[in-house]
Amino acid sequence: MTTKAEPNVDESVIAVRGNGPLAGSVTVPGAKNSVLKLMAATLLTDGTFEITNVPAIADVTIMGDLLDAIGVAIERPTPDRLLLTDSGDLTPVAPYELVERIRASINVLGPLLARCGHVRLSLPGGDDFGARPIDMHVAGLEAMGATFKFSHGYLEAFADRLHGADITFDFPSVGATENLLTAAVLADGRTTIDNAAREPEIADLCEFLVAMGAQISGVGTSTLVIDGVRADELGAVSHHTVPDRIQAATYLAAVAVAGGELVIEAGRPEHMAMLLERFAEMGLDITVTSDRSGDRMRVVAPERLRSIDIATLPYPGIATDYKPLIITMLAVADGVGIVTENLYPGRFRYVEELQRLGADVRTSGHHAVVRGVPRLSGAPVRAHDIRAGAAMVVAGLAAEGETEITGVHHIDRGYDDLVGRLAAVGAQIQRR
Ligand code: UD1
Repeated sequence: MTTKAEPNVDESVIAVRGNGPLAGSVTVPGAKNSVLKLMAATLLTDGTFEITNVPAIADVTIMGDLLDAIGVAIERPTPDRLLLTDSGDLTPVAPYELVERIRASINVLGPLLARCGHVRLSLPGGDDFGARPIDMHVAGLEAMGATFKFSHGYLEAFADRLHGADITFDFPSVGATENLLTAAVLADGRTTIDNAAREPEIADLCEFLVAMGAQISGVGTSTLVIDGVRADELGAVSHHTVPDRIQAATYLAAVAVAGGELVIEAGRPEHMAMLLERFAEMGLDITVTSDRSGDRMRVVAPERLRSIDIATLPYPGIATDYKPLIITMLAVADGVGIVTENLYPGRFRYVEELQRLGADVRTSGHHAVVRGVPRLSGAPVRAHDIRAGAAMVVAGLAAEGETEITGVHHIDRGYDDLVGRLAAVGAQIQRR
């Protein structure tokens, strides 16, 4: 990459005012949680890969810098297109300075171990929402023949050649599924992953791997069966990243609290089916249409949202990444809603920021009780992570007066021009 992203140097703020209804159309960019994994999977074999529908987000730049340090040459002829050239001359080391900035750096573990037989990886960072262990990644790779050493904040893994194994997860971890899946592509024999995560981004990764020549069955289900091949049986491919359901949901939440009518273009409504059902219960009128140019969701906001109870679950349940948006919607809905977090117990930190805007939210353990108020009131708030940051922007659309959001670098990690996209549909929002 030509430009290196600097850690946390951007001190700009986003200023937003609740300014009445939104109108117009928003195009959904490619998914962060897919593109980063596709990029890591290019470590499996030689050649020049093309990835399109790449979102213009900081995490893509950081992942690019990490792959560059490992030995993959990266070009970005246009912001939405990446060319990654893996010439096989790889240094399987992921240094602290890059790994600590992005959770998805853990995704280089499986492909590098399978390809090089050795990896040295700083333990991963990413969003600040409680402990995020990697024990399932490690146990799965051990079952495939890897050995691990941990010292001085680094993990080292070794395996002459991984072999297939039958793995059953206690919990369908997204990252562990992806790491074992990519490692199994080059393992000797058959690997079965039971209770695998089945997020659309994992199906996207499977499609990428299958196009490369991997032997995978059960794509999109909770049982993945992978028959290992040799690296020279794989080839580089061109792939269009699946659209970002979390960014799509952000625009739904924006119109839900601001009022008005939006058309969301290029999303995949079937990837957000349960969320769309719950949003309809809250009063959003959502019509899905499809034609040759793709799917579109027309969303009309009600006069006032209705409260519902909601719980986060692995896909196809309600994603934990939607939750800050949902709590923001409930903060201005009619009635009381109870939100239950089943994935990350500590992931309520942004609630204090919402309270500063006048939201009535109480948390206890992994529950939040949200009593809707008619309107929030603008104040300075901080974005603590990507999704909480986007929720602050949405909350600002529901607030009287100005809401000024700091910690904008978190939003930049996962949102492709959130400010520009909202301004284009009539939001009073600017970055300064
Ligand atoms: C991914 C997403 C993140 C999303 C999450 C859940 C990326 C880059 N991030 O994160 O946005 O919120 O899925 O949908 O794609 N766990 C263990 N041991 C492990 C692995 C996970 O205990 O070895 C636990 C985690 O602490 C957490 C839960 O399992 O409580 C879910 O984690 P996981 O599904 O692995 O999420 P990530 O892949 O980290």
